[in-house]
Amino acid sequence: MPFLLPYLFLILQLLQRVNCYNFPYESIQLSDADVRNSSDLAFGNNNNFGQYVNQTRPRCKAYPGDATWPSAVQWATLNSSLGGALIKGAPPAAVCYPGPTYDADRCAYVRSHWFNSTFFTADPTSQMEQWQTGNNCPLPPANSTTNLTCNAIAQPVYTVNATTVKHLQLAVNFARNNNLRVVIKNTGHDFIGRSAGGGALNIWTHHLKNSQYLPSARIGEYRGRAMRMGSAMEAWEVYRLMGKHNITLIAPISSTVGAYGGFMQGGGHSLLTSYYGFMADQVLSLEVVTADGRFVHAGPDENDDLFFAIRGGGGGNFGIVTSVVVKAYPVLPISVPSVTFSAGLSFIGPSVSNETFWTGVRTYFSHVIRICNAKGLGFNYISSFTLPPFSPFSNSSSRILSFQGSAMLPGMSPNQSMSFIAPLIADLNKVGINVSNQAPVYYPSYSAYGDRPPGEGVGNGRFGSRLFPRTSFEDPNSDTFADTMAAIREFVEEGGYSFHSVNYSPSEDTAPDPGNNAVNPALRKAIAHATGFDSGDYGPYSTSAEQIASHRRLTQYLQKWRDVSPGAGAYMNEADTQEPDWQQSFYGENYERLSAIKKRRDPWSLFHTVTGVGSEEWEVEGANGLPVQNGRLCRTEES
Ligand SMILES: Cc1cc2nc3c(=O)[nH]c(=O)nc-3n(C[C@H](O)[C@H](O)[C@H](O)COP(=O)(O)OP(=O)(O)OC[C@H]3O[C@@H](n4cnc5c(N)ncnc54)[C@H](O)[C@@H]3O)c2cc1C
Ligand SMILES: *[C@@H]1O[C@H](CO)[C@@H](O)[C@H](O)[C@H]1NC(C)=O
Ligand SMILES: *[C@@H]1O[C@H](CO)[C@@H](O)[C@H](O)[C@H]1NC(C)=O
Ligand SMILES: *[C@@H]1O[C@H](CO)[C@@H](O)[C@H](O)[C@H]1NC(C)=O
Ligand SMILES: *[C@@H]1O[C@H](CO)[C@@H](O)[C@H](O)[C@H]1NC(C)=O
Ligand SMILES: *[C@@H]1O[C@H](CO)[C@@H](O)[C@H](O)[C@H]1NC(C)=O
Ligand SMILES: *[C@@H]1O[C@H](CO)[C@@H](O)[C@H](O)[C@H]1NC(C)=O
Ligand SMILES: *[C@@H]1O[C@H](CO)[C@@H](O)[C@H](O)[C@H]1NC(C)=O
Ligand SMILES: *[C@@H]1O[C@H](CO)[C@@H](O)[C@H](O)[C@H]1NC(C)=O
Ligand SMILES: *[C@@H]1O[C@H](CO)[C@@H](O)[C@H](O)[C@H]1NC(C)=O
Ligand SMILES: *[C@@H]1O[C@H](CO)[C@@H](O)[C@H](O)[C@H]1NC(C)=O
Ligand SMILES: *[C@@H]1O[C@H](CO)[C@@H](O)[C@H](O)[C@H]1NC(C)=O
Ligand SMILES: *[C@@H]1O[C@H](CO)[C@@H](O)[C@H](O)[C@H]1NC(C)=O
Repeated sequence: MPFLLPYLFLILQLLQRVNCYNFPYESIQLSDADVRNSSDLAFGNNNNFGQYVNQTRPRCKAYPGDATWPSAVQWATLNSSLGGALIKGAPPAAVCYPGPTYDADRCAYVRSHWFNSTFFTADPTSQMEQWQTGNNCPLPPANSTTNLTCNAIAQPVYTVNATTVKHLQLAVNFARNNNLRVVIKNTGHDFIGRSAGGGALNIWTHHLKNSQYLPSARIGEYRGRAMRMGSAMEAWEVYRLMGKHNITLIAPISSTVGAYGGFMQGGGHSLLTSYYGFMADQVLSLEVVTADGRFVHAGPDENDDLFFAIRGGGGGNFGIVTSVVVKAYPVLPISVPSVTFSAGLSFIGPSVSNETFWTGVRTYFSHVIRICNAKGLGFNYISSFTLPPFSPFSNSSSRILSFQGSAMLPGMSPNQSMSFIAPLIADLNKVGINVSNQAPVYYPSYSAYGDRPPGEGVGNGRFGSRLFPRTSFEDPNSDTFADTMAAIREFVEEGGYSFHSVNYSPSEDTAPDPGNNAVNPALRKAIAHATGFDSGDYGPYSTSAEQIASHRRLTQYLQKWRDVSPGAGAYMNEADTQEPDWQQSFYGENYERLSAIKKRRDPWSLFHTVTGVGSEEWEVEGANGLPVQNGRLCRTEES
């Protein structure tokens, strides 16, 4: 008997390993035996990558109607392998168009939820920003005839409603073996089109939800509390769990953004970015379905190339994440003092002349490094708008400017935050802006900040962004600072656009082990992630020419930002999908290393996302100069 003990120990260890890494939905996996007889469902063979290189590769991914498009029988066989989890794609508003898809009750529901993000999260295929698929099936106006049309093929043709790892593996193998375009959709919140794709097989991860609190995790060098999370957990669910376990976790600011999908995989900033770093910095290990269809663990000691790439190297491009283990921290209060002033509007704080307004903006920005050094986060808007004539608030027919700035100060009591912000208030008073030091908004915990019912508004616009580096703000008397402020002023004043910036400093000190993930190095050097909103219409009534002209105008003004911050970059998750030199801008010096990982892990280019690593080899046909995803995906002529 005693000689069995070592084996028992081994078996127990193996069991523990499985338990340690996997949620129940991850234990249901595809085996070699399951696919032995099926060329559609066979696993990919990465060892034969060399042979693949020499094959004549089809120039384009298969598209519905092609001779190579899988037959109805093949789809039905896939569906039965999936246990019936295959959904035929249909844009949600199709039920509002006359014809076979019309459904009055369902249409009424769609109408009442069209501007509610929870609706798009719960829908298998559609993405929030509908310009990405050419507004392919807009909501038609009620009770009137319309010239709008509903084009279903601009969206994925089929969706795998994945609830197990096996579903993901079947989808990946079927798509790879049939040369299909693949889209991975979590919430569909992506701003640049990475969860959109016409004629694709959509892999919907929305149901991969679960959580487990780990009071004392030991992973790599890490010793401490952690949380295992299903990859589809949304921000509001994360905030709720923080409350339940009396901890702090990193989470997106808005309630329905996925915490471990595109947000984590592109970096992920939160109110605590200067305090604890990015979402990608929190990840201790990952479970992933790779392009060959295998299910692997990625961590500091295993598959470290994937571990590097997925943490910051861009969503949807290196594998399908099924769960993560992330660091957890003690609860932390947050105080949020703020200031508001305007030029031309009397009721939201002091109204000053234009020149004083811009002096006030410069004054605020001369304090952002101090906010970041205190591990706080600046959050500000410069809005430019006109009011109707003879409004009760202003009689000015010219544009009105308003500034709202706040500092999210983790770890500070309300009084501490008021003392902290007093020098900014004093400086604003000195330049003639009569703001007062008012009691801040106070959250006893990060959970208290974010635990609210989910749902936010849905937009259909575009914007561009820039990561202004710390060096731009270090010396308020420098030319660099003056040039940066001038570029922002021109954007608002001449361009007529609105501006937003988030000020953070996720330095190497705040984020241990930062060199070991793929977060854009420009994000580490930044003090301002600045966003400029396009005022043009990208909705269903705008023509291609109008959209192109509107974007061209925005680009002219954004170029001023780029000119004053040479070599800086942009944050890929909140950026212009047509960012010039996006490889440098979104990935910096990580691009080459990521490219090599992409080629090794996905020699088939199974996963493709616009602006993803390696995507320069692909383009969407028939897009008419628009950055839309609703066409056939083909290799560029050069590649
Ligand atoms: C209202 C709103 C608020 C936002 N607030 C913030 C914020 O506070 N901070 C911030 O940093 N960003 C923010 N963003 C931007 C956000 O980071 C991106 O939109 C991000 O892409 C969302 O990821 P998702 O998984 O929710 O969306 P999706 O559109 O579903 O996915 C985005 C990308 O990630 C991929 N992906 C998703 N899940 C997986 C998975 N399990 N495995 C592999 N790939 C996957 C998709 O293929 C796609 O490429 C916000 C966006 C919106 C719309
Ligand atoms: C594969 O084919 C063999 C021979 O036809 C058969 O015996 C076996 O059951 C099949 N396996 C599966 C998983 O379908
Ligand atoms: C691919 O083709 C090149 C040129 O014909 C040849 O040198 C190389 O050996 C081939 N590689 C494989 C793995 O067949
Ligand atoms: C897949 O099978 C399920 C259950 O049999 C069925 O309800 C569903 O319509 C099928 N999907 C497709 C695309 O045919
Ligand atoms: C959004 O939809 C959800 C689900 O139907 C609902 O609970 C929520 O109240 C809606 N929010 C708004 C602002 O309409
Ligand atoms: C549309 O018409 C129906 C029937 O005439 C009416 O009940 C409904 O209120 C109308 N809806 C709108 C939005 O006008
Ligand atoms: C469609 O209708 C809208 C609104 O009535 C109108 O502005 C637009 O010019 C029309 N488009 C076409 C192509 O007729
Ligand atoms: C997806 O699968 C889940 C779990 O089986 C099920 O509850 C849900 O209704 C499915 N969604 C759709 C749109 O079929
Ligand atoms: C939550 O954590 C904080 C700090 O770690 C501690 O002071 C507090 O007592 C805890 N609250 C509960 C309800 O456990
Ligand atoms: C705007 O003008 C009207 C008419 O002259 C005046 O009654 C009103 O007080 C003015 N409002 C503001 C905000 O100046
Ligand atoms: C905060 O400051 C106010 C006003 O100075 C003071 O009355 C109050 O006692 C202070 N609270 C704490 C907790 O220090
Ligand atoms: C500044 O604002 C306060 C109210 O916040 C007001 O009492 C005071 O008179 C103002 N001072 C000037 C110079 O406008
Ligand atoms: C102040 O700036 C706004 C917007 O830039 C502009 O429309 C307005 O004419 C300016 N007012 C003055 C008095 O220069």
